[in-house]
Amino acid sequence: MKKQLETIFVCANCGNEFPKWSGQCSACHEWNTLKEIKGLKSKNLNSKKGGGQRAEVKNLSKIEGRPQGSAHTFTFSTDIKEFDRALGKGIVRGQVVLFAGEPGIGKSTLLTQLLGKIGGLYVAAEETAEQIALRVERLGLDKDKFNILETNVVEEIEEIIERTKNVFKIVVVDSIQMVSCAESSGTPGSLTQIRESTFRLVEMAKKSGIAIFIVGHVTKEGDIAGPKMLEHMVDTVLYFEGEKNGELRILRVNKNRFGPTDEVGVFKMEEKGLREISSEEVSLIDSKVPQIGSTISMVMEGSRPLLVEIQALVTESFSQIPKRIFSGIDYNRGQLLVAVAQKVLGIPLYKEDVFVAVSGGIKISDPGVDLAVIGAIYSSYKEKIIVARGGNGIPPVLIGEVSLLGKVRKVKMEERRVKEIKSLGMEILKINEIGELRKI
Ligand code: TYD
Ligand code: MG
Repeated sequence: MKKQLETIFVCANCGNEFPKWSGQCSACHEWNTLKEIKGLKSKNLNSKKGGGQRAEVKNLSKIEGRPQGSAHTFTFSTDIKEFDRALGKGIVRGQVVLFAGEPGIGKSTLLTQLLGKIGGLYVAAEETAEQIALRVERLGLDKDKFNILETNVVEEIEEIIERTKNVFKIVVVDSIQMVSCAESSGTPGSLTQIRESTFRLVEMAKKSGIAIFIVGHVTKEGDIAGPKMLEHMVDTVLYFEGEKNGELRILRVNKNRFGPTDEVGVFKMEEKGLREISSEEVSLIDSKVPQIGSTISMVMEGSRPLLVEIQALVTESFSQIPKRIFSGIDYNRGQLLVAVAQKVLGIPLYKEDVFVAVSGGIKISDPGVDLAVIGAIYSSYKEKIIVARGGNGIPPVLIGEVSLLGKVRKVKMEERRVKEIKSLGMEILKINEIGELRKI
């Protein structure tokens, strides 16, 4: 089949394709996100049959449910419990996983540990074999499990996969930003190249049944310098998150054709690589002594509860626009909570710089943490520790979503959280309105 190159326009925000350029994406309504791509139309690439073959209608009763393109479906374990949990059960034959995260967060480390467990082919497009050997030694892994292909040309990867079809169960491509396609136009790293290379890798995985992990770097702004548009093309999108200076790493599923998308894997980056944090380990806090500016909350990450510490620092501001700095919680959510605290608790935060951080470097999207954020801000401003009346000296746990009016709402899976908090021998601070914090 002769492949024809065409020009199309792809939205860098949502990944939708258009035949013509326009200033605004008609799918997600973002402005100036359409990028010109010279490549194959996804329609051609997704077609499972070569040219000349006829399309046919099949009755579903003759078809067994299994992922597209694979002759025999089977799922195999990564041998890393937290990795399996994030993926659903494990890796599915022919599965294509986009493994995204900020540079330096630990993507290469985790995938090296994965190959250390189950073996496979590591396509080193970014590093040399020596650098990988050094990492494998540092991690104390078995070098025998690793086969390294140093290349950044997708045709070479294709050739090796073709030749070694039954040898490897998984292939890691690190990273897609460095891979280019000799037949395609555009400079390496350009959207055209990244997209074309990914198409080729997806085709290969589906044809051979080999699972492929594609590493993609995300910039601080959250735009996966390309991979955002790759999300449509792959089966599964995993995000590896955390604060680079912190130890904690969360493996989050953004899309999964083969499993649920609400589970996470939790790890800690240590001297000898990533250590799994099992679901029995609920507490991510070091000290259980109440402190000014600190509160404790319990968040749910998928089905697992995590005890986290929120720290706030409220200090007199000397700038015209007081600083609002949030780490680990969404900036807009943080702004809103500061405004609610000011209005409902009557504390003049407009004169104060406010810094809020989640200790351990985890990013929280669970609104159940709202009350703890406001509690920490209040505690820092008042220079008072927050304790439960009749408490046992251990800081209480604050859970609750806070409405614009200052009401504290119930959180999802509240019973589960309460049970976990009790089993840790801790207490819950019961508050219906954040105004009640004034009495503490
Ligand atoms: P890396 O996996 O290279 O990040 P990415 O591939 O996402 O860019 O991880 C880099 C960081 O991890 C680096 O700052 C060093 C740290 N690290 C450890 O702390 N312990 C280890 O055992 C390894 C291999 C790396
Ligand atoms: Mg890397």
